[in-house]
Amino acid sequence: MKTIKDIDLSGKRILFRVDFNVPLDEYQNITDDSRIRAALPTIRYALDQNAKLIISSHLGRPKGKVISDLSLSPVASRLGRLLEKDVRMSKDCIGSDTKTLVSGMNNGDIILLENLRFHLEEQENDETFAKELAKLCDVYVNDAFAVSHRANASVVAVTKYSPISVAGFLLQKEIDYFKKAMADPQRPLVAIVGGSKVSSKLEALENMLYHVDKLIVGGAMANTFLKSAGWAVGKSKIEDNLVETAVSIMKKADEKGIKFYLPVDVVVASHFDSKAEIKKVPVQEIPSDWMALDIGPSTSLLYSEVLYDAKTIVWNGPMGVFEMDAFSRGTIAMAQCVADSYALTIAGGGDTNAAIHKTGEAERITYMSTGGGAFLTLLEGKRLPAVTALDEAERI
Ligand code: 3PG
Repeated sequence: MKTIKDIDLSGKRILFRVDFNVPLDEYQNITDDSRIRAALPTIRYALDQNAKLIISSHLGRPKGKVISDLSLSPVASRLGRLLEKDVRMSKDCIGSDTKTLVSGMNNGDIILLENLRFHLEEQENDETFAKELAKLCDVYVNDAFAVSHRANASVVAVTKYSPISVAGFLLQKEIDYFKKAMADPQRPLVAIVGGSKVSSKLEALENMLYHVDKLIVGGAMANTFLKSAGWAVGKSKIEDNLVETAVSIMKKADEKGIKFYLPVDVVVASHFDSKAEIKKVPVQEIPSDWMALDIGPSTSLLYSEVLYDAKTIVWNGPMGVFEMDAFSRGTIAMAQCVADSYALTIAGGGDTNAAIHKTGEAERITYMSTGGGAFLTLLEGKRLPAVTALDEAERI
């Protein structure tokens, strides 16, 4: 991939697409700014090269409406504080006011465009909208890995109209780490897959069977596998229509010589509530009117042994309902175990990131992807439309 390093930026107007889709609390405070921090190396590099930086992002899902709570202005303040520089907000991302603001920029200035998704055309990958964005710049830089699985105008169509389109350091780093882990891994490669639904991870699970040496399953999705293995799972959340699929995944894993691990014990609750009565039981003893909400301590121990000789670990999806303290221990134990490992460790996914940050182990993971859906798309073995668009732009 051609990157920002391959071109002369001095005095140029750079349209810099990032993913600053950050969580905000009810007072509009940013509760996790890791996506902003992750883009800083590219931003600082461009500033040092004396470029004019026009930064663009989406925030939330306003679906073409201007929603003041989804304005990027809290992001402008945070970015300004992190860079110790003035970051001006443009009221829109296209239009005459935006053009005027951009034409008045000096080298080293930064403008943050307002939420791209205030225009429906962004998510429709609209060509006219993309042309308007491209007119703002001499160089387009995609550093928005986390939205690169979406065929949106600011990451796909825009590359057809900007004079030069390249990747930023974050996008490159994400792809490089992913390749290191899945395409050319040091073995054994162990994948940890959790989260609530088999259906949302089905393609990823199937693709992983072509890459990994061991596969660990946790979270509510493990219930469907436990059921398919013949255990009664009580009132636990399962996807009945995927029980057969779960059988075939385990069969395929077996045929390929992949070691496949399911929980041996679980934390069960009388109902879905943080204050519900809870107990730890072997999977053979889940009471018929209780539900499994976390992996149990014996499973954590088993999984730590499975990870012991790993040289590469890829993790996507929590081990239980980590948002509730009573059901967070399996995920915490897994985070500690992954963090303690000498393997190359990569974690990605919205919930996974939130869970690892909650455990305080994020710093000890080799690479925390900024992607949720984008990371999953790579795990599914698919190409990211925005990366394909950059490749095509390079060939022209
Ligand atoms: C994300 O948070 O995963 C990205 O910003 C993409 O957001 P989206 O799922 O709303 O397209």
